[in-house]
Amino acid sequence: MLSTRRALAAVVSVVVLAASACGSADEDSGSAKVEVFTWWAEGGEKAGLDSLVSRFGTACPGQEFENGAVAGGAGINAKQVLNARIAQNDPPDTFQVHAGAELADYIAAGRVQDLSADYDSWGLRAALPQGLLDDLTVDGKLYSVPANIHRANVVWANSQVLSDAGILQAPKNLDAFLQDLAKLRRAGVESPLALGRDWTQLMLLESVLIADLGAKRFAGLFTGATSWKSKAVRGALNDYVQLLAYSNADRDALDWPDAERLLIDGRAGYQVMGDWEAADLAAKNFQAYEYFTFPGTEGVFQWLADSFVLPDGAGNPDGTRCWLKTVASVDGQRDFNLAKGSIPARTDVAGDGFSAYQMDAMADWKTATPVPSCAHGSACSQDWQNTVNATLGAFSTAAEKDVPGLQAALAATAARYVQQ
Ligand code: BGC
Repeated sequence: MLSTRRALAAVVSVVVLAASACGSADEDSGSAKVEVFTWWAEGGEKAGLDSLVSRFGTACPGQEFENGAVAGGAGINAKQVLNARIAQNDPPDTFQVHAGAELADYIAAGRVQDLSADYDSWGLRAALPQGLLDDLTVDGKLYSVPANIHRANVVWANSQVLSDAGILQAPKNLDAFLQDLAKLRRAGVESPLALGRDWTQLMLLESVLIADLGAKRFAGLFTGATSWKSKAVRGALNDYVQLLAYSNADRDALDWPDAERLLIDGRAGYQVMGDWEAADLAAKNFQAYEYFTFPGTEGVFQWLADSFVLPDGAGNPDGTRCWLKTVASVDGQRDFNLAKGSIPARTDVAGDGFSAYQMDAMADWKTATPVPSCAHGSACSQDWQNTVNATLGAFSTAAEKDVPGLQAALAATAARYVQQ
């Protein structure tokens, strides 16, 4: 056996050799870098990214992946870094952006290039559902390549915590959910609903709004067709306040994986989160969980899609096109989604190998009513989302829950973006 010091010296020299070999290989082959900017930095998200990177390695010889990930759920930090870089004309070669309103912001600002001709040469139009194509299209042009479809209105539950409290089935509606939360608290679970900071609170509020308003009126909140000032919205906000009261007091300091930790450790019974949670629980080796559609939203699929773009001014457009083609491909979408917990955006990826959760999601995506998400950019602009996040964060910390004040603030924000 090598002594520790000799072993260390051996390791150091191997690393130095490897580094110089790598450097010269790069120089010899002239390999070019593709900086891929995401917020997929750990757990199931990193596993998803790694799968794409490995496909990219095979499909794009001479191109090298450069990881530009900035950690923070829902891109809360990444988007700030990205926008600062774009403002300084220093965009990455490609970046992650949600299909829908969030993408439209970048298109309107002229920050991303038209990929319509690439869609044609990759045969991509025929492979994607029409509704998603519509959300990616502006003035007849396609500007981004979707990697997946995620579902937001899902509740994840710790099976042991529930069964210890005698909760043996999923609640059928919001009232039943509130009763189960009360039951958990009586059983000694102080904060039965694991919750995190601002955007995770927006996710919870959106699920409650879908439950109380129904799919059509919920979607109308972001187009101007539904008023934010109605009695129904007031009722949803009251329900939201009740849910908030069952959540952990330190919620404003937690990102979603921190809140998920409360669930894994049995300190909470439930967490409302998108289905990246399935992949993350798998990456964290936690299996004793169950899931159900947020009570009262059965038959509704609150969707969001991660997509990648070719920014204006990207340094390596050829390499980036190869990344985008990999993201668009059947193999890329299969490998990525198997690891990421989402389902392929393409309709022609075979279902084998996907988890029971993913098979359920694939079936629901075909039959359920789709509604977009503001927390994840398919329903509202980034600016709108930021404002609502700040409003909810302030509401969360306020000792007195001023529901009429919250409703007025949400209505005033909506009025800045859509006519009601
Ligand atoms: C993204 C997902 C990601 C989640 C949590 C969402 O906005 O679309 O890909 O897993 O945020 O970070």
